[in-house]
Amino acid sequence: RLLSPPEQPARGLRLVITAGPTREAIDPVRYLSNHSSGRMGYALAAAGVALGAEVTLISGPVALATPAGATRVDVESASEMLAAAEAHADGADIFIGCAAVADYRAASAAEHKLKKGDDDAGMTLRLVRNPDIIATIAARADRPFIIGFAAETQDVERYARDKLARKRLDMVAANDVSQPGLGFGSENNAALLLWQHGDEVDQCHLPPQPKADLAEAILRQALTCLTP
Ligand code: CTP
Ligand code: CA
Repeated sequence: RLLSPPEQPARGLRLVITAGPTREAIDPVRYLSNHSSGRMGYALAAAGVALGAEVTLISGPVALATPAGATRVDVESASEMLAAAEAHADGADIFIGCAAVADYRAASAAEHKLKKGDDDAGMTLRLVRNPDIIATIAARADRPFIIGFAAETQDVERYARDKLARKRLDMVAANDVSQPGLGFGSENNAALLLWQHGDEVDQCHLPPQPKADLAEAILRQALTCLTP
């Protein structure tokens, strides 16, 4: 949907979004990843463009077309995503962490394809923690308005409040990914939106709706917080 300039409340704002999964190499032919389709992040990028923002979309590997008008930066691993986020967050007004960043990566990726041993023994893969991208951006002195996502399967509000506080976010969109037909890979999504309002946390429920509509609702609420 195209909005005419007077209806573009994000005009003049720079929006940086991380989207999709990350891939953490085990060896040259194998990786650790997750089921993120990237759809929610891409919907946010399209909504940002429609609302008049200048949008940079930092994307893990997904099978989606770049939203018209957005600038896409392709990355694979969490480390690459962090480097791109740090480079593009300079001067940004809003940073949205929508990527499903792998929490761990292989302690060392093998240079050559790993081979099975001669016996039937299993194998142990040693993992180390990845950097927290959104928390790194939130720790900056001159930080943008920061929106995180929380995909949970239980205790949605409690975990979302914890992430809002622990990562020092301005807003968090939380959803219950155990609900069939919502979230990962699907067209529709719902969210519990929580945001910092002075010392209080305000919240609203965004009911199940197409990801494009949910993206616009989240951005409009963020713009309300930015320009009270
Ligand atoms: N995130 C991030 N970098 C990471 C992990 C998460 O930027 N290494 C961001 C996600 O993009 C999202 C938010 O943090 O905006 C919450 O992600 P989530 O995986 O729900 O949080 P975690 O802190 O990793 O907690 P959990 O143990 O529940 O996975
Ligand atoms: Ca995680």
